[in-house]
Amino acid sequence: MTSNSSAIVLLGLGSHAPKNRLTNLELSKKVDTSDEWIFSRTGISERRIASDEEATSDLALCAAQNALKDADVLPDEIDLVVVATITPDMTFPSTACLLQHKLGLRNVCCFDLEAACSGFVYALDVADALLRSGRYKKALVVGAEKLSSIIDWEDRSTCVLFGDGAGAAVLGRDGAGPRLDGFLCGADGANPSLLCQPAGGSSRPASNETLTRREHFLKMNGREIFKNAVRVMEYAGRTLLERHGLTPDDVDHVIPHQANRRIVESLSQRLSIPMDKFYCNLEKYGNTSAASIPIAMDEARRSGIFKSGETGLLVAFGAGLTWASAILRF
Ligand code: UT7
Repeated sequence: MTSNSSAIVLLGLGSHAPKNRLTNLELSKKVDTSDEWIFSRTGISERRIASDEEATSDLALCAAQNALKDADVLPDEIDLVVVATITPDMTFPSTACLLQHKLGLRNVCCFDLEAACSGFVYALDVADALLRSGRYKKALVVGAEKLSSIIDWEDRSTCVLFGDGAGAAVLGRDGAGPRLDGFLCGADGANPSLLCQPAGGSSRPASNETLTRREHFLKMNGREIFKNAVRVMEYAGRTLLERHGLTPDDVDHVIPHQANRRIVESLSQRLSIPMDKFYCNLEKYGNTSAASIPIAMDEARRSGIFKSGETGLLVAFGAGLTWASAILRF
């Protein structure tokens, strides 16, 4: 792995998944589904589900501690904390503030960033820019979700897809680690109802009616999201590579958002990047939204597949719609 003092580097990575596994077979006893349907349509076999005592900030804490240890950075050195999540512990204060307290940090800038499943890559982009500005020295960027808290366990079309978990990265200006080499973040808010949590915000505050209509749970038009996902991920990947004078052939590793293996396969075809360059772990975790890319990155890194001098591409899409991509130089 190379270091470059003029660039922002990933000094360390960490992740955490709750202990409790929920298999497809167990799910098929709760809703009208089957292991065969779920695995063949999505590639998911099981997902992790947090306990009632674990909130998003608890998952974030474990991932953050692992990343700090990996980076060999003391909590005191962190002066910026960004948490990407759509399942904050509460609407406010931010999960980043709760995490700050749990880590015992002082005098830090803390905020949550909400770009759904693209959130971690968005957060890396923002932290990269803030570190480059010179106002902060070291950032902790976390993607953490307790999606089980907003899943409708009576809706088979969504409850089989998601899981809980967290991933974290420590970013700094100096040191050894993969270099962040460029970002592309975008959004199209024209069709928010394709994937949303309709109630609980200012447009539909909680009421007896919203509860009865189950509007506090995630709602999704799966087919439309699928089509849009493939389109915007191809755009985000291809456009970013072009802007950096690269082609898909130059990419050694792709860490895509882990939503559905068929989405990843379609992306592989469209970008003409073979599937063996895509890192997939969605079979074990399902879709963990903002946590999916950092968990996958951490696992891929620990498996030793990244070699010095190689190029990585992160590519994500999510509710909004949002999309985001990033280039890493190992
Ligand atoms: O981070 C972004 C999050 N969202 C996504 O990435 C989701 C993107 N979309 C997808 O991954 C896919 O659209 C799904 C996996 C959600 C669905 O797969 P599909 O091949 O698009 O299935 P479908 O929605 O077209 O449904 C096909 C059939 C339907 O039955 P009929 O109408 O053909 O009789 C559904 O009712 O499958 C049925 N179905 C199920 N059957 C068994 C839907 N969910 C289930 C289920 N088990 N869990």
